[in-house]
Amino acid sequence: MAELQEVHITEEKPLLPGQTPEAAKTHSVETPYGSVTFTVYGTPKPKRPAIFTYHDVGLNYKTCFKPLFDFGDMQEIIKNFVRVHVEAPGMEDGAPVFPLGYQYPSLDQLADMIPAILQYLNFSTIIGVGVGAGAYILSRFALSNPDVVEGLVLINIDCNAKGWMDWAAHKLTGLTSSIPEMILGHLFSQEELSGHSELVQRYRDIIMHAPNLENIELFWNSYNNRRDLHFERRGDATLKCPVMLVVGDQAPYEDAVVECNSKLDPTKTSFLKMADSGGQPQLTQPGKLTEAFKYFVQGMGYMASSCMTRLSRSRTASLTSRASIDGGRSRTVSQSSESGTVPSGSPGHTMEVSC
Ligand code: BEZ
Repeated sequence: MAELQEVHITEEKPLLPGQTPEAAKTHSVETPYGSVTFTVYGTPKPKRPAIFTYHDVGLNYKTCFKPLFDFGDMQEIIKNFVRVHVEAPGMEDGAPVFPLGYQYPSLDQLADMIPAILQYLNFSTIIGVGVGAGAYILSRFALSNPDVVEGLVLINIDCNAKGWMDWAAHKLTGLTSSIPEMILGHLFSQEELSGHSELVQRYRDIIMHAPNLENIELFWNSYNNRRDLHFERRGDATLKCPVMLVVGDQAPYEDAVVECNSKLDPTKTSFLKMADSGGQPQLTQPGKLTEAFKYFVQGMGYMASSCMTRLSRSRTASLTSRASIDGGRSRTVSQSSESGTVPSGSPGHTMEVSC
């Protein structure tokens, strides 16, 4: 556990002197499924998509994404984009508890609320960044709005509905665990939970003492009742945009993300398995995720190498040449804290892109 804490400390990199956080503006819009709140950072950039985030169950946009978007090196990327951070209904700070009997939207309905946000902001395209339930919601949105989604970063996605075995396990766990404990088991690995790191302790406190715990439980139920996304590698039911799948190598959703990778178009999908990151890589490894996100955004044709640091330029050049050699194959990118980033397209093919 001491190791995990160490990684967290190494990754913490505050804004540089002179870098000031941009003003944020929070809005709410009405949709057919109720009101939805979102916060906008930065100003729209002509001919660029908005970065559009969706958080996981038990979190809100700040607890899910602040360490990543506040990370020093991330500023170089996000200054080029307006960011929209959505919150699932009832998850925003100070949200009142929904009345008894309130029908919380399904994950599909949460995805169907997104067009109202984009219409309100007059934004035509997005790069989605989602974690867990948020990754599912953004994928569902991308399936029905392929022209709107230019790229997707999906952390801890489970594209399957719960099978009967999962339900049996869920019911059994429910007999001995509280809702906060079940949600913590969704967010973090058992090793992290028993390790009591400062980070896990902080998130345990946040969830255990959440004033909107009833709302969180409703979102949790919607997540557990999700439908299968029915991705097909060759077929219409697939993501058409570039996708970066991300999971920690000890994370609760490792197998689910591996399976999702096997169902997506390998020419459009990269798979980043992160070592030493636990269940929430965007919290514990913001530096490595920032680096991967930079490659991803650059691969989509945004951020010319001229606006990147010398070191980043040399790393990206290596990755780009590798990608062209790999052609149509899906790329797996593993990260380890000792050796940096190592993408491997097929057995015997590896390349260091990070020193
Ligand atoms: C952003 O700059 O987009 C951001 C800042 C703080 C929290 C979340 C996002």
